[in-house]
Amino acid sequence: MAAEKQSIHGVWGSRWIFILAATGSAVGLGNIWKFPYIAGENGGGAFVLVYLLCIAIVGIPIMMGEVLIGRRGRNSPINAMRALALEAQASPFWKYVGWMGAIAGLLILSYYSVIAGWAIIYIFRLGSGQFESADAATVQNAFDGLLADPIMLTALHTLFMVMTMVVVARGVNRGLEAAIRILMPALFVLLAILLGYSVTSGAFEQGAKFLFDFDFSKLSSESILIALGHAFFTLSLGMGAIMVYGAYMPKKASIGSTVLIVAGMDTLVALVAGLAIFPIVFANNMEPGAGPGLLFVTLPIAFGQMPGGMIFGSLFFLLVTFAAWSSSISLIEPLVAWVVEKGLMNRNKAALLLGVITWSLGLGTVVSFNVGSDVSFLMGKNFFDSLDYLTANIMLPLGGLLVAIFAGWTMKRTTVEKELNMASYGVYALWTITVRLISPAAVIVVMIWTLFQEQIKAMLGW
Ligand code: PHE
Repeated sequence: MAAEKQSIHGVWGSRWIFILAATGSAVGLGNIWKFPYIAGENGGGAFVLVYLLCIAIVGIPIMMGEVLIGRRGRNSPINAMRALALEAQASPFWKYVGWMGAIAGLLILSYYSVIAGWAIIYIFRLGSGQFESADAATVQNAFDGLLADPIMLTALHTLFMVMTMVVVARGVNRGLEAAIRILMPALFVLLAILLGYSVTSGAFEQGAKFLFDFDFSKLSSESILIALGHAFFTLSLGMGAIMVYGAYMPKKASIGSTVLIVAGMDTLVALVAGLAIFPIVFANNMEPGAGPGLLFVTLPIAFGQMPGGMIFGSLFFLLVTFAAWSSSISLIEPLVAWVVEKGLMNRNKAALLLGVITWSLGLGTVVSFNVGSDVSFLMGKNFFDSLDYLTANIMLPLGGLLVAIFAGWTMKRTTVEKELNMASYGVYALWTITVRLISPAAVIVVMIWTLFQEQIKAMLGW
């Protein structure tokens, strides 16, 4: 019965629109801002390899699981998990996986919006020609100045939150489609231009070597968990974003190939962003491990030097803002969809209320870059780093693990087979084995080892 059901929130016009929306969710700050900076902090090559492995053996199978659950359930993740658990005569406890994801989404959005605010101001900074022929020190100072200004950061964060909640209030499948259709390809083109600049004017060889030269001595177990967490973050997995978009996916579209396209585009954007950024880092004797500011202290140098850089630079950050926008919507949609389904309030009110909560939490991130930078929460980390660690490295992998178990073990086999509708039995078998055993094992081993290493070593007397 559930298979004939339609979501009350609407259905995407076609499979391509689902691909665009899911790519819009996946491609965002994670690819352009976060991937390069964590690759830099974790030593480059070996980290990148582990990240790619995680995408292949954990991310892709789990993404298929999420789309499958969403499309079958045709509801917000919380209600979809509950309904499908009932259908399989399993415990209703599964709805808490949806809950954890919805909360993770809100937590992520609270800091995501602050970072997106940085991109907004850089549209204007580059457009004003402020960085024309600027050297590394000037660009760094400009960035430090921004971080030191909580009022400015709050204003930008507010603007971005309003942009996000306006779309969510109207219903995500209106307006978003058209925007993504034009903006995604434009982002690709600008990244290609940047890459062209790095190939011709940066220390390209050194940059490429940094990203693709696998030196495993630089890899700590902590780095492996960060790579795993990032695979979830960048593909928007483990919290219901892809699941909620799956709920709006037309019934006939093939899940397997659709997911491969989305994951492929997401990975491509991250690698191109990295390949564009690191040559600039090395050509200007900058630090690859510079942290969250990496994007903002490297690219302005490149744009400041290239012909037409004022326009390209401004346009680039405009597109980064849009990419962040199409991701941020999917971070809060699972929770909004649930509130609406529950009949607690209408979409407008739900968006307003959840927007205000998220915005308030974001203030913690704002101050963690200035007045509150020394206040520590989790493991000596400041507010922003704690929130990032908790969500990306713990909540998302845990959510993803449970989704894998649910799709692999709990759901009714007949339902799964029907929804996936794979052309080849071999591929179906491969997916089943991966989602049942390989992905869960990878997540469990990496999480337990990284988080409880000390205890395990002590227990074994190492
Ligand atoms: N995938 C997005 C990015 O890479 C972030 C995101 C995470 C969006 C989780 C939705 C859910 O920027």
